[in-house]
Amino acid sequence: MAQFMSYLIVLMSLLAIAPMCLARKTYGGYGLYPQFYDHSCPHVEDIVNSVVAKAVAKEPRMAASLLRLHFHDCFVQGCDASLLLDSSGSIVSEKGSNPNRNSARGFEVLDEIKAEVEKACPNTVSCADILALTARDSTVLAGGPYWEVPLGRRDSRGASLSGSNNEIPAPNSTFQSILTKFKRQGLDIVDLVALSGSHTIGNARCTSFRQRLYNQAGNGQPDYTLEQSYATELRTRCPRSGGDQNLFFLDYESPYKFDNSYYKNILACKGLLNSDQVLLTKDEQSMELVKQYAANTKLFFQHFANSMVKMGNISPLTGSTGEIRKNCRMINSY
Ligand code: HEM
Ligand SMILES: *[C@@H]1O[C@H](CO)[C@@H](O)[C@H](O)[C@H]1NC(C)=O
Repeated sequence: MAQFMSYLIVLMSLLAIAPMCLARKTYGGYGLYPQFYDHSCPHVEDIVNSVVAKAVAKEPRMAASLLRLHFHDCFVQGCDASLLLDSSGSIVSEKGSNPNRNSARGFEVLDEIKAEVEKACPNTVSCADILALTARDSTVLAGGPYWEVPLGRRDSRGASLSGSNNEIPAPNSTFQSILTKFKRQGLDIVDLVALSGSHTIGNARCTSFRQRLYNQAGNGQPDYTLEQSYATELRTRCPRSGGDQNLFFLDYESPYKFDNSYYKNILACKGLLNSDQVLLTKDEQSMELVKQYAANTKLFFQHFANSMVKMGNISPLTGSTGEIRKNCRMINSY
């Protein structure tokens, strides 16, 4: 009897502990969690990583291009892979919006990842989750921080061209209007300054910063916050007219390395985009963050990883909303 009682006590205490151990940490209250595919597609992270690694080895800039896609997805009706849809039926693709046209790239890499993942686990892994994993892997491959990616997003059955035009900040937007766009997504000034650090890798086209070189305020004058010799060099390859698609490194110091030199450039008045430089010049708190990240890579990496998880939590479709697309470019039935 005593034996039975002690058995009962052990059993009861196990039952009391078990739910605590099984309780999962969720992020932002949306029910996304890193183990979402542990049983349904245990190798998904390896599959994604191997395709991303291959693509980045072939072309280093691809890390930047893929990281940007997750941002342009999440800011438009949430992280739902709406960005990946091509035009068809009543869907007008976001790929034709002002921020994306002649600019967003890497869609073939997503196709390849999705095809590999479908082979291993058909109808299981969303394109939205693949974008989130791809952004993390790209960051790590370029030398940036690692973070666990909360998963469980589902894919939209529509896209929003107007959302893409209106919600994604433009490079010549004012500091306040950029911050307002971040706040609308539930992001704050720390997220803005940390996530802008993505511009430590990748390119921008002449058309994205020409205004600063020749006509900053519509008065025929350049942006005098731009360091002069740097401005002169930019003008040689970004003329007053023509050359719209000429490419420049966003971080000329270490264009393929995910580090904190983006912030050092800004302190030296060598931010490429107006939206980069205003982080220093238009707001006290933002200026402090730029200085801190320029001095402290570890702090930048911690904040960046944290803000990427926050951005990845923007209004995901979960449960039975949306669908798991078979092909990221099209909804399952029209
Ligand atoms: C804060 C507001 C932001 C503005 C105004 C902005 C604007 C831009 C512009 C104009 C370009 C160059 C596009 C071109 O000329 O083709 C660019 C490139 C890029 N952006 Fe941003 N961006 C912002 C925030 C972000 C965020 C939050 C991320 C990621 C989390 C990001 C990641 C990137 C990357 C990696 C590139 C280089 C892409 C490539 O080389 O293919 N940006 N951005
Ligand atoms: C930003 O650039 C766009 C397109 O070139 C232009 O129409 C707009 O007036 C500019 N906005 C500002 C604030 O300069």
